[in-house]
Amino acid sequence: MTRLAIITAFTFSLVGAALAHQGVKDAKVKAWMHAMMQAGQASKTLGNMAKGTAAFDADQAADAQAILIEVSAAIPTLFEVKSDDPVSEALPAIWEDYADFTGKAEAMKAASETLDVSSAETLTAGMRSLGRSCGGCHQSYRK
Ligand code: HEC
Repeated sequence: MTRLAIITAFTFSLVGAALAHQGVKDAKVKAWMHAMMQAGQASKTLGNMAKGTAAFDADQAADAQAILIEVSAAIPTLFEVKSDDPVSEALPAIWEDYADFTGKAEAMKAASETLDVSSAETLTAGMRSLGRSCGGCHQSYRK
C-alpha cells in the first residue's frame, strides 16, 4: 500500500467508528462501547486465525485473549451506572437484574480464559463457546 492509501484507510476506519457512535455524549457509554469494540476486534482476530483466513500468530492470539479477559473483567464496573443515552443499544433490563447481567460477563471471562490459543485448531473449538458467551448476553441485554 502506498503511504496515502494507508492514511486514507486509517481515516475511513476512524470515520466509520465515529459515525456508529455519533451523538453519544455520556462518557460511561463511550467507555463501554469502546470496550465492546475491542472485544469485537479481538474476536475477529482470533476467528480469522481459526478459520484460516489469517495466518496463525501466537503473539497476536495471546494479545487478543488478554483483551477478551480484560474486557470481560471490566464489564461489571463499566455498566454499573445506568444510562439513558438514546444512541446506546444497552437495554434497561441490565439494571433490573444486574446479578444476571454480570453472570453473563463471568461466562465470557471463563470462555476467554479457557481459550487454548496455542494453535489455529485449538482456537476453533474454543471460539464456539466464546461466541456463545457473547450471544448469551447480547440476546437479553442488547437491542
Ligand atoms: C455481559 C454482557 C455482554 C457480554 C458478555 C458481551 N457483550 Fe457485547 N455488548 C453488550 C451490550 C449491553 C452492548 C450494547 C452497548 C451499547 O450500545 O451501549 C454490546 C455491544 C457490543 C458491540 C457493539 C459496540 C458498538 O458500540 O459499536 C460489539 C462489537 C460487541 N458487543 C462485541 C462483543 C463480543 C465479541 C463479545 C464476546 C467476546 C461480547 N460483546 C460480549 C453486552 C455484552
